Amino acid sequence: MNKKKKGIFIVIEGIDGSGKTTLSYLLKDYLTKKGFDVVQLKEPTDSYWGKKIKEIQLNGRGKIRPEEELNLFMEDRKFDIEKNIIPNLKKGKIVILDRYFYSTIAYQGALGLNYKWIKKINEESFPLPDIVIYLKIDPKKGLKRITKNRGDEPQQAYEKVEYLEKVKRIFDDLAKKDKRIKTVEADTPIEKVFEESVKIISKIL
Ligand code: TMP
Repeated sequence: MNKKKKGIFIVIEGIDGSGKTTLSYLLKDYLTKKGFDVVQLKEPTDSYWGKKIKEIQLNGRGKIRPEEELNLFMEDRKFDIEKNIIPNLKKGKIVILDRYFYSTIAYQGALGLNYKWIKKINEESFPLPDIVIYLKIDPKKGLKRITKNRGDEPQQAYEKVEYLEKVKRIFDDLAKKDKRIKTVEADTPIEKVFEESVKIISKIL
């Protein structure tokens, strides 16, 4: 896979209900107004594999093994990198990506797979972002936000508090060890989260 790029690759990470999607929109708007050419993307995508992932999100895991689930996210990412991310970076655009392989390390790692191994295979297979903003929040608060904002019940497979506690522990551990990952406290008003994130991003523009 050709990993050469000249744009700026920004990733937003965090557990469900941390505010990633809202922040992605705000950053896109802000950077566009500043005159940058910005593309906002998200994983899972709407590819063949992304659609299978959405079925799991809605209906639960059933008999799907963690390895198969990992494979779906990896295939979906391969598609996203080739079809969306690399072409846009090559055009010199800023790519804001809502979830990337840090989610795979944390979520599929929390299923019992070796997360250091998941990290290794992802770092070897896919381009590293320029910066990762990790929105840190307590899972109970994140889930409360989901129920409040979306007005419905959390999804079957991913949005369970015990599972998200494990996911968060892995995210926290990654953030401690990887200089690329900048932690922003997400249990504060979105204006503050946005302000902090702008400060972080400004350093690499
Ligand atoms: P979202 O579209 O609401 O962010 O939901 C995507 C769900 O998929 C979310 O609960 C996290 C999960 N996920 C993984 O388990 N592994 C991954 O690699 C990615 C990108 C997402």
